Amino acid sequence: MEVSRHEHDVLIIGSGGAGLRAAIEASAGGASVALVCKSLLGKAHTVMAEGGIAAALANVDERDRWEIHFADTMRGGQYLSNWKMAEIHAKESPGRVRELEEWGAVFDRTKDGKILQRNFGGHAHPRLAHVGDRTGLEMIRTLQDHGVHQGFDDYQECTVTRLLKDGERVVGAFGYDRESGNFRVFQAGAVILATGGLGRAFKITSNSWECTGDGHSLGYHAGADLIDMEFIQFHPTGMVWPPSVRGILVTEGVRGEGGALTNSEGRRFMYDDIPPLYVNQTADTPEEGWRYVTGDRDARRPAELLTRDHVARCIVREVKEGRGSPHGGVFLDISWIKEKIPNGAEHIKRKLPAMYHQFKALADIDITEEPMEVGPTTHYVMGGLRVDPDTQMCTVPGLFAAGECAAGLHGANRLGGNSLSDLLVFGQRAGKYAAAYANEHGRGTLEEAQIEEARKEALAPLERQDQTDGAGPYAVQFELQDMMQEKVGIVREEGTLSEAVEEIAALSRRADLTGVTGDRKFNPGWHTALDLRHLLTNSEACARAALERKESRGAHSRVDFPDKDKEWGGFTVVLKRGSDGNMEVRRDALPPIREDLQKIIEEHG
Ligand code: FUM
Repeated sequence: MEVSRHEHDVLIIGSGGAGLRAAIEASAGGASVALVCKSLLGKAHTVMAEGGIAAALANVDERDRWEIHFADTMRGGQYLSNWKMAEIHAKESPGRVRELEEWGAVFDRTKDGKILQRNFGGHAHPRLAHVGDRTGLEMIRTLQDHGVHQGFDDYQECTVTRLLKDGERVVGAFGYDRESGNFRVFQAGAVILATGGLGRAFKITSNSWECTGDGHSLGYHAGADLIDMEFIQFHPTGMVWPPSVRGILVTEGVRGEGGALTNSEGRRFMYDDIPPLYVNQTADTPEEGWRYVTGDRDARRPAELLTRDHVARCIVREVKEGRGSPHGGVFLDISWIKEKIPNGAEHIKRKLPAMYHQFKALADIDITEEPMEVGPTTHYVMGGLRVDPDTQMCTVPGLFAAGECAAGLHGANRLGGNSLSDLLVFGQRAGKYAAAYANEHGRGTLEEAQIEEARKEALAPLERQDQTDGAGPYAVQFELQDMMQEKVGIVREEGTLSEAVEEIAALSRRADLTGVTGDRKFNPGWHTALDLRHLLTNSEACARAALERKESRGAHSRVDFPDKDKEWGGFTVVLKRGSDGNMEVRRDALPPIREDLQKIIEEHG
């Protein structure tokens, strides 16, 4: 059976924003780079960060600076964020945004020609550099345009199933071309995982089919630590109707531009419950329009722009208590700003062109005239591979991670817009340090036995008889998604989390019995069977971590432990593959924060 072989200094798995930024950096330093893409280049979840890139450029509010961005990120993450990463991120994101502009990104502009910035949840100042509501798309376009001139090799529609090791060190990967089913072996001095998130483990999600958490699981099976896996971000606003589009993202930019959330009684319910963390100033009444709660005392925000974890929970409460919209969401209205702004309808279309078209085409709603129906959708995972804050190296040598599959920056809850800045800042660092590592250590040795094992493992679903009464991998996947949504979703508790862990084990046993028909040529059943291993590993990690954390904090909400527990504020939940192959759970104390950063938090957090 033919296996093509490729040798590079740096192998990057995943070609969204983080992978592309890493590829640019590593290539610019002279490394030979392979960029592996599960889908087509440019089709990445990065485009779902629509509303903007967070960076303290201070173009709209000159009081903004890195210290305030740092403090907002720490507070948004409920003080579980890795403070060193939060510092690097806040300091370096303005430079990364300007660089993107130099490479051709066409940002919206202030009247005096600077990059325009908008309000977003949990940010004290208008901080999100944006391109209408298509910022992620413009970022990918720019990185791709710039990247293709750097001379890296790209392997599109190629799925990696295994990392390959030389002793403790990661030195390559095994994968297959989705179209032909032919196998590829990559040998590299360093490997960067940049595969994004795992939203497909849940039923309702903004994530596309690729987002099965491959990097999380590849790294874990290669021995790397996963942390913070209990923190899944349910973005408050996904489409809820019609059913075929349920979960598609409705950008926070709608609320950033003034969108109001109302219930079936017409009340702006977000004012019913302002968390104590944010009540350090007066909460004005909704009727006064724009000037509300949160952040810097002088820079008030509407309560719709409280952090995502809180907004999502408030929406769930409204629906549960019978004040939802006809299709199980709430209303999001941007049309009201028409009355306040000259050429209001045109203004809305200019600021939110993708949302205007999305609702018109998919739901026959004109958002300049009518409210949208929205509800929470699984959008992002704060947890992922534990990395060194400077270099992005995982806890296994030779393996690096950047973007959503790396953890640390966002703690218990990510602020909107911090994903795009995260992947620029840490994608650049991963590329730089992976290239340096490869240069210093050279390429390791690939053992043929490991390659043969990976080949057999990949072929197994095709070679065994299905023993699941013909239900096959799709049935296991659907059951997993339903179960995760119900038992490891927005609101959790001990009993159902324990059931989830048991059900995942049962589903894993069933997955091992599924067989698929057909051959290796573009065979979606086979692809699903191989993706299942990643989904099951990640689901187990989420459920076990959620069971372990006995408090409610950020995106992790337990009805049996409804409050934040000071004690738990000092710990990270770590998941590691034990020598017996089972998942081990432990708690690691967070390192004490540097004194100067603590002072910044006291002043601004
Ligand atoms: O709502 C949004 O535009 C998403 C942004 C993000 O996830 O950072």
